[in-house]
Amino acid sequence: MDSIHICGGCPLNGETRIQGSKNAVLPVLAATVLVDGVSTLYNCPDIADVHCMIRLLRSTGCKVKWQNGEIRVDARRIACTSLPQAYVQTMRSSVVMMGALLGRMGEVHISYPGGCVIGKRPIDMHLQAFARMGVTLEEACDGLTACAKHLAGAVITLAFPSVGATENCILAAVLAKGETLIRNAAREPEIDALCDFLRCAGGDICREADGSLRIRGRERLCRCAWRVPPDRIVAGTYLLGCMAAGGRIRLADVDTTQLDAVLAVIEQMGGKYESSGDGIILAAPERVKAIPYIRTEVYPGYPTDLQSQLLAALALAEGESIVEETIFENRFRVVPELVRMGAHINIEENHVTIKGVARLHGSHVKAEELRGGAALCMAALAAQGDSCITNRHFIDRGYQALEQDIRNLGGRI
Ligand code: UD1
Repeated sequence: MDSIHICGGCPLNGETRIQGSKNAVLPVLAATVLVDGVSTLYNCPDIADVHCMIRLLRSTGCKVKWQNGEIRVDARRIACTSLPQAYVQTMRSSVVMMGALLGRMGEVHISYPGGCVIGKRPIDMHLQAFARMGVTLEEACDGLTACAKHLAGAVITLAFPSVGATENCILAAVLAKGETLIRNAAREPEIDALCDFLRCAGGDICREADGSLRIRGRERLCRCAWRVPPDRIVAGTYLLGCMAAGGRIRLADVDTTQLDAVLAVIEQMGGKYESSGDGIILAAPERVKAIPYIRTEVYPGYPTDLQSQLLAALALAEGESIVEETIFENRFRVVPELVRMGAHINIEENHVTIKGVARLHGSHVKAEELRGGAALCMAALAAQGDSCITNRHFIDRGYQALEQDIRNLGGRI
């Protein structure tokens, strides 16, 4: 069944453990292609995007075993450098396979990537960076062929600190000849996670004081074992869900240092939190306060991936809030669905104005993309009555056990 049913209107009360990070594990899975041996990854989330990445790895000739959250990738034999269109078009992150295959094999053919419908999401910066490293690109109607006889280190200055472009540069540079310097590199924790995995496999990467990444190419990478860090976006989703529905929750396995910007907003809204062991406890206020103005930014700013969930919580706030989206265009697709639940939200170009209402009501709504879908579930927990959220397959791309988590947190789903 491609839908989720939630009976809302009760405060949350409970505890759940946060899954491994989607945005960390995907580029690391691509990175296993660079390892001339077996990589073992622990704490892997069982989500649709990981299944898709594993299919992509298998299509190149990697042997992959996945059991109880542990994935082993044997990349000793890579036989194919063409990435099947079906997988590439369902998942935007497949684009990081380009850097990995270029690094290992010196060539890759890829059809144009797909993924969430949250804007244009071009890959021009990825391609410019590859070109600087000596890659030649040939465009065809079905995709791109990239070849590098001698992949060479280079100084790359990214026009914008794109997460995906930084990942692709890192992946292409680890086994390249010579040194690569990535200026204006993304600072998201998932970039540090990728660097950490690669260092564990023998890569030579360091973050300079100005945030640039310096990578000295190595001859080869070897077998390693690594744990996927917890998912900061899933943790943030449940924290904002609790702010919307009220109550008190504990989340285990959370790195609160990665949530600074989100916790600052939660505090401003009247939430009280404290660190507890490896996790966090949040107590929501009777009614959340509005945020006069906030915008999404690159890390360490407020993440675009938690923008929709924030709208769900602010829909119930006392007062008026303005939220501006600066990373992706077309990332307010959740708004008409929240309005269906009784929210007063107006879209004006790249920002929304939210006039908080005292109640939302259960409704029949449709997920249009991953994070917007999760936001609808959080709104449904807060809304009076029953909601049905269709298109749950979008949500399954990033949330391993949304139902179980919500049940653990005392929600009726
Ligand atoms: C990654 C995350 C995604 C998250 C986003 C922002 C993964 C797999 N995905 O996406 O979940 O929402 O970061 O934190 O980790 N851009 C260009 N040209 C390029 C590359 C990007 O114009 O070559 C633009 C994009 O259209 C967008 C902005 O730069 O407007 C940010 O994109 P980027 O940081 O690359 O995000 P993703 O890597 O796609």
